[in-house]
Amino acid sequence: MCGIFARIANEPVAPALIEGLRRLEYRGYDSAGIATIEQGGIERRCAVGKVDALEAVVRSGPPAGTIGIAHTRWATHGSPSERNAHPHVAPGLAIAHNGIIENHRELRHALSDRGARFRSETDSEVIPWLMHQHMANGVSAKDAMHRVGEELHGAFAIAAISENEPNVLRAYRRGSPLAVGFGEGGGVLASDPQALAGYATEAMILEDGDSAEITRDGVTLFNRTGERVQRQTLAVDPSVFACEDNPYAHHMLREIHEQPDVIARILGQYRVPADVLAMVPVDFRRVSRITLVACGTSYYAAALARRWFQEFARVPAEVAIASEFRYEAFAPPLPGELAIVISQSGETADTIGAMEVMRARGIPVIALVNQIGSTIAREADGTIPLLAGPEIGVASTKAFSAQLTVLAMLALAAGQRRNQPGIGQFHARLQKLGDMVTAALHNEPAVIAVAERIHNAHSMIYVGRGSLFPVAMEGALKLKEISYIHAEGFAAGELKHGPIALVDPQTPIIALVASGSLFEKSASNIREIAARNGRIILVGDRAALLSLSDVSTHSLTVPQGCDLLQPIVSTVPLQLLAYHVARLRGLDVDRPRNLAKSVTVE
Ligand code: AGP
Repeated sequence: MCGIFARIANEPVAPALIEGLRRLEYRGYDSAGIATIEQGGIERRCAVGKVDALEAVVRSGPPAGTIGIAHTRWATHGSPSERNAHPHVAPGLAIAHNGIIENHRELRHALSDRGARFRSETDSEVIPWLMHQHMANGVSAKDAMHRVGEELHGAFAIAAISENEPNVLRAYRRGSPLAVGFGEGGGVLASDPQALAGYATEAMILEDGDSAEITRDGVTLFNRTGERVQRQTLAVDPSVFACEDNPYAHHMLREIHEQPDVIARILGQYRVPADVLAMVPVDFRRVSRITLVACGTSYYAAALARRWFQEFARVPAEVAIASEFRYEAFAPPLPGELAIVISQSGETADTIGAMEVMRARGIPVIALVNQIGSTIAREADGTIPLLAGPEIGVASTKAFSAQLTVLAMLALAAGQRRNQPGIGQFHARLQKLGDMVTAALHNEPAVIAVAERIHNAHSMIYVGRGSLFPVAMEGALKLKEISYIHAEGFAAGELKHGPIALVDPQTPIIALVASGSLFEKSASNIREIAARNGRIILVGDRAALLSLSDVSTHSLTVPQGCDLLQPIVSTVPLQLLAYHVARLRGLDVDRPRNLAKSVTVE
């Protein structure tokens, strides 16, 4: 979604603003802009499309200001255009805004009546006009910022500069993330703490209602009543945007290959199942039902974990898509209900909404989150960090395997607490996961060969049974996200109830199989596809592939594991397949069209 970056320094900030926006590109956007203060006046440059287009505009007339704000806009109110691009201005002021202003229509009318002249179709443009009118009435910039924060409805983060105080950057947060930092060269703020890398070693995370005042001397934070406060700080990883050190062509490919390290980090940090329990205030002996809630890839992790909680902990578990769940009508909660929310970014608006619904119903919420300091991590009753490290590619890969590894630990921990048998044995097997994922990655040349055969397909079908069904859905999501090929994941046994009508020799069918109790059932479903001239690409362990070699056109081998490990390992070739298909189609793998890394609107 939208991104904010701002800088105050002793030298012209335009290059830093452009670099900052590049770091936020992965969030998804369709126009970009900057504003600086130069010779006492606001200077604004905007462009539709990528940051490259903005950079060209800036190069043709570089602003010399040493204070500035910058923004990447993902259109919500009004089309992507220069007029709608941020920063937005009112006399003497410029602001960049992330989030949604729900009461912008009423405010627009009232402001117009008082003389405001709007130039854009955006909700955001009410912000500089509100600030302007307060300041014109003698209110200080700091107080005007807080007043505006109180007047707006919705979720937002704002960065502002004003000609009245040309040496101060101001920011305000409610609902949308904002981090500020300070280093030798001056101050910095961004909607993503990692974007501060190189400018600050620590990011201070604003809380709702906080404002920040950043000068060349330091940063001051104020709470909603205007008192000075200190907030949580996070270490900023200096290497995360160091693409020159990336031996891989894309962030996504690097992140796929980082998965064994991520798994090793998780299993090193959470050595025994009880280690994950120590992070959350839940006694699993008293839990009567678990509801797992998430979106997208995180939802598929939840769908898989649902099975594990039932199998290993013998707790009834259900899974829900956050955007649907938050508006459902509910029966009264049962004693012992628990909600688990899963989110890489920790900022997904739908998941936050679902979490609020759960808490309002008196149900404790624990969160599995990759971004420490995010809204979900702060607001849940207990949070287990996913430890995947920053994920830059829009398509989630290493965060998914981190979610599954942590969820597996949590399900085993719940089982142990509930005195279920065999937990130690499964925990021992989990220690082999990293090596198995490494072995699956070694099969990349075979994946590339398959990608070369199918990258021109118009549609693909993914099928799996049992724990491989959520993997099939995740594989299809990965493909459609970055290759723009239509893809669907189905439960293999469900094909004959309708989707089998789609089978034809032009549509590659990625069939996930594993030796084990469901193998014969899966094999029958795959043979039904073969009987209708389906073009089958098998993904599975060697024994399973051998039994079906007569019906497959290609096969991708993964190591053989148990119900806990097989789905995680089987994900690897699907991630690689999506990546190589998209690469062969010449697409922007890390920044697919229309998508945002962190979906902060409903
Ligand atoms: C994953 O590849 C997607 N980009 C998307 O489905 C994502 O998983 C979803 O938006 C949820 O995000 P979250 O994990 O940050 O909450």
